[in-house]
Amino acid sequence: MPERPKKMDPSFITLPYRLERAAPRFESNAIKYPESLVRHFLKSFTKRGETVFDPFAGLGTTLFVAEEMGRIPYGMEADPQRHAWVAGQMRHWNNLVCGDSFDLLKAGFPKMDFCMASPPFMARDHRWNPLYAGSPDKAGYAQYLKRMKAIYRRVSAVMKRGGTVIVHADNLHGRTYTPLVHDLGAAIGGVMRLENEIIVAWEGGPKDYAHTHCLVFRNTGAA
Ligand SMILES: C[S@@+](CC[C@H](N)C(=O)[O-])C[C@H]1O[C@@H](n2cnc3c(N)ncnc32)[C@H](O)[C@@H]1O
Repeated sequence: MPERPKKMDPSFITLPYRLERAAPRFESNAIKYPESLVRHFLKSFTKRGETVFDPFAGLGTTLFVAEEMGRIPYGMEADPQRHAWVAGQMRHWNNLVCGDSFDLLKAGFPKMDFCMASPPFMARDHRWNPLYAGSPDKAGYAQYLKRMKAIYRRVSAVMKRGGTVIVHADNLHGRTYTPLVHDLGAAIGGVMRLENEIIVAWEGGPKDYAHTHCLVFRNTGAA
């Protein structure tokens, strides 16, 4: 058996699965990750007063928890209804921009210490590309991964050098299996250094959702 390195990041953790905030009236909480996930990573990688970015803000979990913990939240969300619902509940409401995160460099964001997001997922046998709202000329998984890489190249440009970027993802068990965690690791790993994959076991989660994955990237600057 190979000798184990002396100091290893814990790559397997257990967290409570609880969605703490009530869902908006216009949709369920299905797209959200639990607040415990954000708390864990903010505690591990950030300090009070630091900047936290979410380029796929959704229902705002990263941003709300960042505010609760005394960090300064920034984000982008393409869906105007979600954007308005989240911004309406933030103290730093002006820091959440409604738009495509591909355009994040136009938003005038400051340099970020930390980034955490759950990007929209796509199955490899689907045509509808969520990053282009289904536009037919940008259909397919290859276009999805290419665009994700381009978006994270922009995330890298807005991050401080050495900053940590967490990407939450699940492998998809549909008609065909999609190794999304691996594929996002490879795509985004083309612009930042992939340092770890943390498996998170859910305590008290839904029966069909026992665990999830978080990829940990380091913004090395020159990727
Ligand atoms: C999985 S959800 C994020 C959920 C979030 N982590 C939470 O806990 O509420 C992904 C979000 O990305 C948004 N989105 C998809 N494509 C986008 C893009 N190109 N730019 C910005 N937001 C986008 C979707 O509208 C969706 O709200």
